[in-house]
Amino acid sequence: MPASINVLFLAAEASPFVKIGGLADVAGSLPLALRNLPYDATGGAKLDVRLVLPLHRSNRAESATMLPAAETLVYRRGGSLLAQVYEMSLQGMPVYFISGSPITNASNVYSNDPASDREKYAFFSLAALEMLREFDWQPDIVHANDWHTALALYALRSRRSDPVLRRIRTLLTLHNLPYMGGDGADVLGAYGLMPLSEESLPLWAQTQPLPLGLWSADAIVPVSPTYAREILTPQFGCGLENYLRTRAESITGIINGLNLSAFDPMTDKSLPAKFNAETLENRPANKEALQKILGLPVDPKIPLIGMVGRIDQQKGVDIAIRALLRFENHPWQFVLLGTGDPSIETTARNLQATFPDRAHIVLRYDDPLARLIYGGADMFLMPSRYEPCGLAQMIAMRYGCVPIVHATGGLKDTVQEGKTGFLFQEPTPEALLEALERAFSIFASKQKWSRFQRSGMTEDFGWERSARRYAILYRSLMGSA
Ligand code: GLC
Repeated sequence: MPASINVLFLAAEASPFVKIGGLADVAGSLPLALRNLPYDATGGAKLDVRLVLPLHRSNRAESATMLPAAETLVYRRGGSLLAQVYEMSLQGMPVYFISGSPITNASNVYSNDPASDREKYAFFSLAALEMLREFDWQPDIVHANDWHTALALYALRSRRSDPVLRRIRTLLTLHNLPYMGGDGADVLGAYGLMPLSEESLPLWAQTQPLPLGLWSADAIVPVSPTYAREILTPQFGCGLENYLRTRAESITGIINGLNLSAFDPMTDKSLPAKFNAETLENRPANKEALQKILGLPVDPKIPLIGMVGRIDQQKGVDIAIRALLRFENHPWQFVLLGTGDPSIETTARNLQATFPDRAHIVLRYDDPLARLIYGGADMFLMPSRYEPCGLAQMIAMRYGCVPIVHATGGLKDTVQEGKTGFLFQEPTPEALLEALERAFSIFASKQKWSRFQRSGMTEDFGWERSARRYAILYRSLMGSA
């Protein structure tokens, strides 16, 4: 093994710099977890992982505190574009921020204009490779995430004759298969990327960033073992299942971890009462605070069901609402926090109108309230139609909020039926109702319920386990170099 394995980790967003979705949690934690792995996990090599992000609008003011690291040109038809690279350090890890007109002209992180996003991320992906010509440090592996950075892998694959880029191995982490980037024929042409000239990918996929990245990647990592199997089926494969089946040997599901210090009910500032598995008796004070804030009757005996997240088709908010409407003869309270699809938001408002003393809908992004829900509600609903990994169920378990989830993707891999939570097999109100019945009957016994809470709270969801799996993959990629 070499003394060091150098990894360039590309992502559209990463905490703490910029966070829109779950990708930011992963990109803000995994590179550091990899760098901090003990030598036994890396075969004695140092994992020198470095993060590359676009310099989004919201980070532009911070560039004053960054060091200029390089300037490079990115070929574009009609005139090459200047890319400026800034550098800063996150807990000792170099982080590179790339700026340039396609990034400064675009709106922050993601926009409603797919063509503008494609242009921005194509530029970003290519600039991340071009900047290497100005660096002393060179990666052995480029690790891309989702469609935004997938074209970096396609560019590497198409430029195998390039002496700087030739020896680099590639890995693509797949957080969400349906988001493929759309038809990028124009952008590919503009940035001098040759069209794909082979037929293993369906025709419609040959101009889309994500499928091109999958085709190029030496290793593909869906964010849970179950999702890795699901994407090989027509139900979850989004039309790529046949192609992905031909790549089965290069696909390894690795579950995401949870940032244990960022989500800790013993130190969480949003919780009026701190607690852990040994001091669960402190937790009801949080439920009381939550019931008060929501204007719901304050009663420890009524099961309080929470739901936090994007309100869209994937997350199954509609399934939850249809189930609750039919669960009328049980006592329950429900809080939904999040934003998203206006028509599903309206359905949620209607639930509150029907049950004003039971349901409270908060249509905004609110991190402290989210944390109070994790640390105060009794049950946490995730009826997601698909869920590549899912983070909320892990936070909920760590905060003693027992999850009730559709047995799909990472939900199936992290929640254990009858021990840490409740699973249902079909994403339907009927199936969810059965799981709710089971949960309510256990909730009636305080002792049984706290056993569920403690089991979830003492699970190890930390990043090290996942990072160890990535390290094994990195090492095997190096072996095949
Ligand atoms: C996407 C997926 C989610 C996953 C996250 C991070 O947002 O929908 O399931 O947890 O990416 O990998």
